[in-house]
Amino acid sequence: MKLKVAIASDHAGYNLKQFIKDSFDLHWVDLGAKNDKTSVDYPDFGYAVAECVANDEAEFGIAVCGTGIGISIACNRNPAIRAAVCTDSTMARLTRQHNCANVLCLGERLTGTEVVIDIVRTFLETEFEGGRHERRVNKLTT
Ligand code: RB5
Repeated sequence: MKLKVAIASDHAGYNLKQFIKDSFDLHWVDLGAKNDKTSVDYPDFGYAVAECVANDEAEFGIAVCGTGIGISIACNRNPAIRAAVCTDSTMARLTRQHNCANVLCLGERLTGTEVVIDIVRTFLETEFEGGRHERRVNKLTT
């Protein structure tokens, strides 16, 4: 069965969002934006991805804006979400292994498409290590 992944961006992340969807054959839940021309607000799209993952309507989320930072702040306002901005696959691996991150945040203006492919693949394929990390991750959800 295909992994179900929620994905959203603002206008500044729209092209990278489309590129990711075209690059991975997954069950995508696309929550917008609809184009790169209309200026929209990244918090609206971060909240949408966060809610979808928090409600178990998707196993993971991917959120894209210009830097990945603004939309990660929005995602992390949801207490069920552990969103991490990643600019390389080592960050993607470690945030899955140690933080059990459930939303990957990317910056279209910062990270090239080849690197993005490695990041997304690593993030989706890496398991949480549990053990000592479990206690710490539990402290993130009050
Ligand atoms: C939009 O211009 C830009 O500010 C936004 O995509 C993001 O980078 C914010 O963190």
